Amino acid sequence: MIGKKMGKALNEQVNAEMYSAYLYLSMESYFKSLNLNGFANWMRVQTQEEMFHAMKMYDYLIERGGRVLLKTIEGPKTEWKSPIDVFEAICEHEAKVTGLINNLMDLAIEEKDHAANTFFQWFVNEQVEEEASCDAIVKQLKLMENAPGGLFMLDRELAQRVFTPPTTNTSAP
Ligand SMILES: [Fe+2]
Ligand SMILES: [Fe+2]
Repeated sequence: MIGKKMGKALNEQVNAEMYSAYLYLSMESYFKSLNLNGFANWMRVQTQEEMFHAMKMYDYLIERGGRVLLKTIEGPKTEWKSPIDVFEAICEHEAKVTGLINNLMDLAIEEKDHAANTFFQWFVNEQVEEEASCDAIVKQLKLMENAPGGLFMLDRELAQRVFTPPTTNTSAP
């Protein structure tokens, strides 16, 4: 059975992942309003990934005998200045989430909860990817700052992204 402190922390992370999904969904809507449908597609896939993260935490909490208690999801921002403004906000957000995951891992170590430690490892690796993919897109956007054609090329590239549910093995990346 999961510890009280760990159960509370997992519940908070379910909420944080749901908020992430909500934030990306809001970003999708922003890109749709600009008719940048490839960017919008990238955001949709990101939303699906965040929902997957939330459900992974949700299922795990139940598997460990805990109780999921859903709370209000904060409303996300709805307007940005430009595509780069969005991606800079994403990088900042994902860095914050990495901090949350690291705190969960710290708690697992503190509580000697080896099972949770193994479970969080997947998220630790996932955050490395999340931060890297955002960083790569920011770099591309910066390179093409004065070339509007570049934005449409990137839009076409981001249209290719599809959601593939990661492996259910909790310890595999
Ligand atoms: Fe996430
Ligand atoms: Fe994320």
